[in-house]
Amino acid sequence: MNPHFCPECHRRQFLKRALLGSAALFTAPGAFAESLAATPFQTEGPFYPNELPLDTDNDLILLNDSLDPSIGEITHLSGQVFNENGSPARGVVVELWQADAKGCYIHTEGAARGEERDPNFQGYGRFLTASDGRYYFRAIRPVPYGPRTAHFHLAVNKGGKRMLTTQLYDSSQKLNKTDRILNSVEDPKARASLITDFKPLEGSQAGELTAHWNIVIGRTPEDPKSDRGRRGPGTGFRPDGKGKGKGKR
Ligand SMILES: [Fe+2]
Repeated sequence: MNPHFCPECHRRQFLKRALLGSAALFTAPGAFAESLAATPFQTEGPFYPNELPLDTDNDLILLNDSLDPSIGEITHLSGQVFNENGSPARGVVVELWQADAKGCYIHTEGAARGEERDPNFQGYGRFLTASDGRYYFRAIRPVPYGPRTAHFHLAVNKGGKRMLTTQLYDSSQKLNKTDRILNSVEDPKARASLITDFKPLEGSQAGELTAHWNIVIGRTPEDPKSDRGRRGPGTGFRPDGKGKGKGKR
C-alpha cells in the first residue's frame, strides 16, 4: 500500500480529469444538425449484475475508499448520449458493466472457468448525464473470454425505462471478425458504430488509455420481453423492475 496515496486527492483528481476530458468533446459546433441513426441493440447477456457492488459510481477501478486498484489497463471511456433528433440526452442513466481482467463478471455465476474474481474490481457503474448528455467512466480495457471478443456492456435508461441495451467493442481485436453477437448486426455501417479505438492517454506514465464513443437512443423504450431469452436472473437494478429468466452466454 502506498503511504503517500490519499484517497481524497485521488477523488479530486479523478473529477478534475473527468471535467477536463469532457471539455475536449464539445469543440465541434453544429456537428449534429440532422437526425442520427440509433445505436444498434446488442443482447444484455446473462451477466448483468444480480448482486450490485456496494459502490456503483463511474470509477470501476477503485471500490469505495479502497487503496488497491483493480488489475487491468485503465481506460477512460467518455462520450455523449444523443436523441435521434441530434439533441443531447439529458438526465439519462448510462450503465456500464464488464468482465474483470480474467474474464469474470460481478454476478453469482459470472466467474470464468478456473478463475477467481478480482476483489478490487467494481465491475459495474452508473453515470447520470447532465444537459449536455455527456458520460464518463474509468474502467479497464475489456479482455476477450471464451468465444467472445473484448467488449463493454452498456445500457441507457430514461425515466426508469430501458431505452437501449448494447455493447461496445475495441477496434484492435481480431476476434471482432468472428464474434457472433457483434456480427449479428448485418449492416456494416451500423456494426462499425459499435466499435471504437482505444488510444494511449496523453502524458500518462502508467500506460492509461482513452476511448471515446457516442450513443444515440431512440424515442421509445425497449420492450422488456424482447431480450428475455438471453438475460440472466437480473435481480439487481432493473429500470423496468423485471428481468427474470435464464439465459446463455
Ligand atoms: Fe459479456
